[in-house]
Amino acid sequence: MIGLQWGDEAKGKLVDLMTSQFDYVVRYQGGSNAGHTVVIGEQVYKLHHIPSGILNSGVMNVIAPGVVLNPATILEEIRGLDQRRIDVSANLRISDRAHVVFPWHIAEDRVTNAASVAGESIGTTLRGIGPCYRDKYARSHAIRMGDLYRPGFRERIETIVEAKHRALSSLGSTEALDANAIYSEFSGYAQRLQPLVTETTDLLLDALDAGKKVLFEGAQGALLDIDHGTFPFVTSSNSSGVGICAGSGVPPRWIQRVLGVAKAYTTRVGGGPFPTELHDDVGQRIRDLGKEYGTTTGRPRRCGWFDAVAVRYTSRLSGVSGLSIMMLDVLSQLPEVKICVAYQLDGERLERFPSHLEDLRRVTPIYETIPGWDTDVTQIRRMSQLPSGARRYLERISELVRRPIDVVSVGPDRAQTIFADGAS
Ligand code: IMP
Repeated sequence: MIGLQWGDEAKGKLVDLMTSQFDYVVRYQGGSNAGHTVVIGEQVYKLHHIPSGILNSGVMNVIAPGVVLNPATILEEIRGLDQRRIDVSANLRISDRAHVVFPWHIAEDRVTNAASVAGESIGTTLRGIGPCYRDKYARSHAIRMGDLYRPGFRERIETIVEAKHRALSSLGSTEALDANAIYSEFSGYAQRLQPLVTETTDLLLDALDAGKKVLFEGAQGALLDIDHGTFPFVTSSNSSGVGICAGSGVPPRWIQRVLGVAKAYTTRVGGGPFPTELHDDVGQRIRDLGKEYGTTTGRPRRCGWFDAVAVRYTSRLSGVSGLSIMMLDVLSQLPEVKICVAYQLDGERLERFPSHLEDLRRVTPIYETIPGWDTDVTQIRRMSQLPSGARRYLERISELVRRPIDVVSVGPDRAQTIFADGAS
């Protein structure tokens, strides 16, 4: 399951809804920058690391090698679940290959985030994600979960803290890093997490060989993909469909169906180009009605119309077989809705998503307007019962993106979901 926009497409709700059909749910990229909200009745669960399948006790949840893990955050999530009587000991496993986010990563994220990149701040979630992935690729100062249990961990912390002190001061950070304190803090986390930490690649491959069904839960959205997104205003992992194999260790032959998840409109948090962004009352109404404030940082999300050029691009890139359109109910009160069907650039009509940031910044969206439906759709459970305006809107999205719509979400609760015939 892949987000097709800039993240926050409400994937958590769908994963939670679909887990009963699966034996495993896998998070394979990103880290605590992700924020998945799952709502069941009156209960709201906010998860950053733990796969959204955790609420179903029959499902094994796996955090795969491609994730960067903040041990304190995951322990906090485990504690929150524990308080709600959800015990994760039997159905959560963490890869010993996953890289660990340390205080120096967060300190670096804080000092570098304020800097302007291509004339604008990236506006990261300040969770140390970029610096941790950078250390992973640079290799010399990286620590993986499995290293926490090996001799030499204390010495490794000491060496890295010394180097990070120098690097951080040169960036203007006054952050004090105490190797002893960090060592004892992370040894404590390691001890508490030890029963969950294991090799997960063979675990998943064995499960697939045995005919088990595995759901890969993407974090963020494909437009934030480090290689294929709106670089440099992206996250530091492969958040489009291409990241599934690298992050999980499961080869392409096992990927049978890709559900692409998009909101009925578009949102973005942080900096970067956003062709269909609305700076007017309509944008504010979408933000208010959709409660568009970040799960991880609480920041107001930038809101705009559905961009079919972008979603067509990310659907192809991610090998999407069917679409799930979320938050349709939010658009119900608008007199008219718009879909961006193409861009205009230097007097020419553009049907494809530009690869360069500067071109994307200069495009003007070409819109098609569809009359609104002014009907509460939150209690509707069948496609055929949707008001004709909403059906027209969805049909047009499907035509433009060239993918069938398998699922439509009309509210935050599990029950507020419409499955196309034969798509459940
Ligand atoms: P980072 O992932 O914290 O480095 O942030 C890089 C960019 O990705 C920023 O624009 C963030 O707002 C955005 N981002 C990261 N995670 C999420 C997410 O889960 N939802 C939406 N945007 C995200």
